[in-house]
Amino acid sequence: MRQRPLGVVTRGTTNPNRLRRVDNWLVETCGDALRAAADPLVVDLGYGATPVTAVELRARLATGVRADVRVVGLEIDPVRVAAAQPAADPPGLAFARGGFELAGLRPALVRAFNVLRQYDESEVADAWRTVIERLAPGGLLVEGTCDELGRLGSWVLLDATGPRTLTLAAKLTTLDSPAQLAERLPKALIHRNVPGERIHDLIRALDDAWHAAAGYAPFGPRQRWLRTVTAVKQAGWPVLDRPRRWRHGELTLPWPTISPT
Ligand SMILES: C[S@@+](CC[C@H](N)C(=O)[O-])C[C@H]1O[C@@H](n2cnc3c(N)ncnc32)[C@H](O)[C@@H]1O
Repeated sequence: MRQRPLGVVTRGTTNPNRLRRVDNWLVETCGDALRAAADPLVVDLGYGATPVTAVELRARLATGVRADVRVVGLEIDPVRVAAAQPAADPPGLAFARGGFELAGLRPALVRAFNVLRQYDESEVADAWRTVIERLAPGGLLVEGTCDELGRLGSWVLLDATGPRTLTLAAKLTTLDSPAQLAERLPKALIHRNVPGERIHDLIRALDDAWHAAAGYAPFGPRQRWLRTVTAVKQAGWPVLDRPRRWRHGELTLPWPTISPT
């Protein structure tokens, strides 16, 4: 498939905390898979104009999952690969040229953030397939998007069989309404926030529940969010039972419940 570097979003300085939310989720959700991996190899695919998010990922996984983790940042843009070399710290952190074929690596985990948003929706399935075919046995791909400051984001977790879950995540202290999450859906869903699509129904259900929970606002946005997620679950959405993560402004659902129709 076509692979193209488009650095539009990464011009200027990348906020080093931008991917902290997904990294914390990765530690909790994918930590066991990485601990069980014969080779603790992780790829940060499309790390961008600066290597800072790859540096952060390595630090987070080394302290939170296993000290011998090896992160390889892959970039399709050779200028960005050269620029990242001073941040390399082998064997724990390296940078190389590569795309969805993963440069021949067989990682246990791939994080691809804010990469597919630069492609057409029709290219997503191929990109996903290309990556998941190259994972080590039991390997995982987390593909998603977020805003510049990491306050709003969403990601899809995939294994060798395809997409498993969707997670929506918001910094609750700056969230006006869950409808804002629609702007930061993964490429597979961002054009599907229209009537008749399940993701549209979900966003609307969250928004309605958030407004119905306005009475909880004086107790803080976390209480309001917890009430919102509880209401959506009671309404029949099969929210995965991770109240610990709900408290962080997150919500995870099985992929089939929100997949494009
Ligand atoms: C918007 S930046 C994202 C940077 C970082 N992941 C983040 O979220 O802050 C997207 C990067 O993906 C790279 N890219 C685009 N297509 C790619 C591909 N097929 N394989 C690897 N990198 C790719 C671009 O060169 C660009 O540097």
